Amino acid sequence: MGHTFTAEKPEHADGVERVLARAFGPGRYAKTSERVRERGAVFEPSLTRIAVNDAGDVVGVCRIWRVEAGAPLFFLGPLAVDPSEQAAGVGLALARDSIAACRASVGNGVALVGAERFFRPLGFTVVPNGRLSMPGPVDPTRFLWLELRPGGLDKVQGELRAPKR
Ligand SMILES: CC(C)(COP(=O)(O)OP(=O)(O)OC[C@H]1O[C@@H](n2cnc3c(N)ncnc32)[C@H](O)[C@@H]1OP(=O)(O)O)[C@@H](O)C(=O)NCCC(=O)NCCS
Repeated sequence: MGHTFTAEKPEHADGVERVLARAFGPGRYAKTSERVRERGAVFEPSLTRIAVNDAGDVVGVCRIWRVEAGAPLFFLGPLAVDPSEQAAGVGLALARDSIAACRASVGNGVALVGAERFFRPLGFTVVPNGRLSMPGPVDPTRFLWLELRPGGLDKVQGELRAPKR
């Protein structure tokens, strides 16, 4: 089945909620990443990517937020694909597209909590010990970042928090 990738619009809200509920189940609000989003991360719908199938249903989402840790930074997540359409390349394509949008908007870097094996092909590496922290517990082997321009991560350090703006 073919997929279209677009920025997130208000009309996608119900479909995104359905995908998140089906992909993550009830544990999703317990994640430390949710604390970052609750504490004033600024949602960026134009950098977020939604996958829509040929029937017009939302089947995937990769959300992008603006945060700060010593310098401005993007925070990626949640990334989810509906279980009925997983393992067909949609997740990787969504992540790649939203990161390309972040790069085009001239950012320093992207941080996330996720599987290193999944995100390594996109250029992500494990955050060096002590450089960044989250407002809650995080598995350090799943705390990843990506530089978007040379030197972009040089001043990035400390806890992910709301952007100063
Ligand atoms: C993780 C998720 C977004 C991947 O989306 P997807 O469309 O199924 O993934 P893709 O088909 O693009 O997979 C790309 C590659 O990543 C691998 N992969 C998929 N899920 C993975 C995971 N959780 N951990 C490690 N690797 C994974 C696939 O095997 C594939 O590699 P291959 O091509 O060498 O086989 C999707 O499975 C999902 O929504 N899972 C539940 C929610 C979740 O755990 N999100 C957190 C993401 S870290």
